[in-house]
Amino acid sequence: MIDLKSFVRDIPDYPKPGILFRDITPLLASPEALSAATDALAEPFLGQDIDVIAAAEARGFIFATPLAMKLNAGFVPIRKPGKLPFEFHTHQYDLEYGSDELQVHTDSVQPGQRVVIVDDLLATGGTMEACCRLLEKCGAEIVGCSFLIHLTDLVGEARLAPYRVESVMKY
Ligand code: PRP
Ligand code: HPA
Repeated sequence: MIDLKSFVRDIPDYPKPGILFRDITPLLASPEALSAATDALAEPFLGQDIDVIAAAEARGFIFATPLAMKLNAGFVPIRKPGKLPFEFHTHQYDLEYGSDELQVHTDSVQPGQRVVIVDDLLATGGTMEACCRLLEKCGAEIVGCSFLIHLTDLVGEARLAPYRVESVMKY
């Protein structure tokens, strides 16, 4: 079995002093690691009638399409403001300083469709919570959230308490 952690590079003090950044670009550059990571993201949801894989830009998009193809599902993009051409829902969420916003097309998911949301990393959970809220506004059933990396000393999992949370690597 491939050791996926050996493809994650630790960058001290990025983007700010005191932060140890987990850089997944070496994993993305390796055909074996990229394929194994996609398989591992899909594994908890195999055979579970998933209609849609959703993800927030930018890093969530990387895994969303191969995951959708593996699970025989469609892909729904969740975007930063100003990018969607049709009617959209908006969810605003707090950051350490200030706030951020994500948007999804109102017709991206049909009521009752079963959705898995994927992202590269779970830190505070703000991004994923926003994705869940947006898709619920569309009437989606959130089957679970699948992360490549879970930074466990942050409060992310608690924030996502109502949802099933799966991760490939924990730090
Ligand atoms: C990163 C990462 C997750 C999010 C995790 O994205 O890809 O989406 O942060 O943090 P959270 O759990 O505290 O919300 P970022 O907002 O840096 O955007 P990017 O994907 O465009 O780099
Ligand atoms: N790595 C990558 N993205 C992140 C991190 C990290 O350690 N923390 C918050 N977003």
